[in-house]
Amino acid sequence: MRKEFLTTLALSGAVLTLADGKGKGKGENNDGTRTIYRDVAIIGGGASGSYSAVRLREDYNVSVVVIEKNSNLGGHVNTFIDPVTGRGFDCGVQNWIELGGARAFFERFGVEMQPIVRSTFETVSVDFTNGQQLTNYSPPSAADRTAALQRYLAVAESFLPVLEPGWWTFPQPQNIPADLLLPFRDFVAKYNLTAAVPTFHATTGFGIHDMMGHLTVWFMRSFNVNLVRVLLGIETSIVPVSRKNQDVYDRILTSLGPDALTSTTVVSTEERSSRRGVTLIVRNSATGVKTRIVAKRLLYTAIPSEANTSPLDLDREEKSTLGQFDYSASYVGVVSHPSLPLNKSLVNIPISAQPANWPEAIPQYPYNTRFENYADSSYFRLIAVGDQTFTAAQAKKVIEDSFDKLVEGGVVNQTSPAQRLTFHKFEPHGLVSAYVTKEKLEGGFIQRLNGLQGRRGTWYTGASWGVHLSTSLWVFTDTVLERLVGDLRG
Ligand SMILES: Cc1cc2nc3c(=O)[nH]c(=O)nc-3n(C[C@H](O)[C@H](O)[C@H](O)COP(=O)(O)OP(=O)(O)OC[C@H]3O[C@@H](n4cnc5c(N)ncnc54)[C@H](O)[C@@H]3O)c2cc1C
Ligand SMILES: *[C@@H]1O[C@H](CO)[C@@H](O)[C@H](O)[C@H]1NC(C)=O
Ligand SMILES: *[C@@H]1O[C@H](CO)[C@@H](O)[C@H](O)[C@H]1NC(C)=O
Ligand SMILES: *[C@@H]1O[C@H](CO)[C@@H](O)[C@H](O)[C@H]1NC(C)=O
Ligand SMILES: *[C@@H]1O[C@H](CO)[C@@H](O)[C@H](O)[C@H]1NC(C)=O
Repeated sequence: MRKEFLTTLALSGAVLTLADGKGKGKGENNDGTRTIYRDVAIIGGGASGSYSAVRLREDYNVSVVVIEKNSNLGGHVNTFIDPVTGRGFDCGVQNWIELGGARAFFERFGVEMQPIVRSTFETVSVDFTNGQQLTNYSPPSAADRTAALQRYLAVAESFLPVLEPGWWTFPQPQNIPADLLLPFRDFVAKYNLTAAVPTFHATTGFGIHDMMGHLTVWFMRSFNVNLVRVLLGIETSIVPVSRKNQDVYDRILTSLGPDALTSTTVVSTEERSSRRGVTLIVRNSATGVKTRIVAKRLLYTAIPSEANTSPLDLDREEKSTLGQFDYSASYVGVVSHPSLPLNKSLVNIPISAQPANWPEAIPQYPYNTRFENYADSSYFRLIAVGDQTFTAAQAKKVIEDSFDKLVEGGVVNQTSPAQRLTFHKFEPHGLVSAYVTKEKLEGGFIQRLNGLQGRRGTWYTGASWGVHLSTSLWVFTDTVLERLVGDLRG
């Protein structure tokens, strides 16, 4: 099998060289579609796709092409640049946990990094459904919160060997630790973590559907050991000195040159197998131009939603495995309005959380999480979240409604004449936080997901396969790249 595979690759290599050099314009086929040849085609140029492209090209001497739907790389990184001052305001990814080779990776591209600078704004708790300020709400004390985070850390560390990197060593269904299958509410009760609930929610928990009812295993996917260590001051998070998180991805885009196809998606798949490699037809949405990509292997990094995977000619096993995922949806933006208070963070907390009912301090989907002022500016960050049916139009409406409620509740005074919010940036992350039910995990879902790795010439990384934090995902991605390159080289 292995030998046969090698022969096929060698043979196709020879044929490809001929086809590439002769006849029509370089690489042009009978149908006029330009054909390009690479070792690996990468779908998605966000955190894991961009990282993979750089490492494969520069560290493994493997040729790549990145197929990215957006006009830039970086995925959830969204930097708004003030047109007057040139200053950057990040409304997506805020910072990166300094793990493994993360800092060196940025420095490869000359992006100088520094520890995060936290602003210490006054937080105003408001129920965004009715605009009522929570005047009788006490958040947990710093000491109680820290103690609870330490307890969480101890338990989460005990699961590290089965949760990271990725799912490689996740136990068989009958051996999944019972704690990981508890609804998070029960896990919180078991380990006395109530005092950390507002922190869980405000940091990453808003991104997962019904955080308290969600399985603990999925909660730990976005609130992992490294994140707790950062919150406890044991590890650090870093940001570019330029304070523009997009910088590194812009430089990666420049460095990749013709190896990055932006504004591009796959329209059809002519071939996808371990023996014959992968042939994709991709199309640039701006120019309409199609390109044929002939690659030995495919690395899939985008969210494996039905819309994203339908041009890939999924077989039954792929469809029935990837189709089991459910998601949340996330939208971020930068707004301004003369009535929004400077140096304050208005956060959305249900009135029922008063006086100190922390497990209730979580709004129901869909909702806007906050209007958070950026230091020394009149811009505000917001994040709207909902279930997988939540659209961009609905998200904008939820945000505008939340502002109207602030006015109604007297938390802000509307201008006269009344003005609407000004959106300076609005970025649809779309589907995030893949998860499946307990029944599916107990039915061997993770084993089936792992079974797709390397199958039909296709490897997978990205948040649906690992932790929902960029640099932890890079550590996982390293383990996928090792296997992918091993596969490529037989
Ligand atoms: C609001 C928010 C804040 C966050 N803050 C942080 C943070 O501060 N630090 C941190 O480490 N992590 C943060 N994260 C998590 C982090 O963004 C993710 O873990 C990381 O981006 C996941 O990387 P990825 O490669 O899986 O996906 P992404 O980075 O989302 O990349 C996927 C890419 O695929 C592209 N794509 C989608 N569909 C297609 C298609 N059909 N064809 C081609 N391309 C396609 C997308 O445009 C995107 O560029 C945050 C997430 C959210 C939602
Ligand atoms: C990288 O790969 C190319 C093409 O396969 C080959 O010609 C070259 O020698 C390789 N370089 C290194 C440093 O291995
Ligand atoms: C539970 O946590 C709270 C706050 O962190 C703490 O005051 C209390 O002593 C803890 N209770 C137990 C039984 O550990
Ligand atoms: C906000 O804080 C800055 C210092 O960072 C201060 O100069 C400014 O006056 C404050 N503005 C308001 C409205 O409180
Ligand atoms: C709104 O205006 C009223 C009347 O001028 C004033 O009393 C109140 O303090 C203002 N509220 C805010 C949040 O600015």
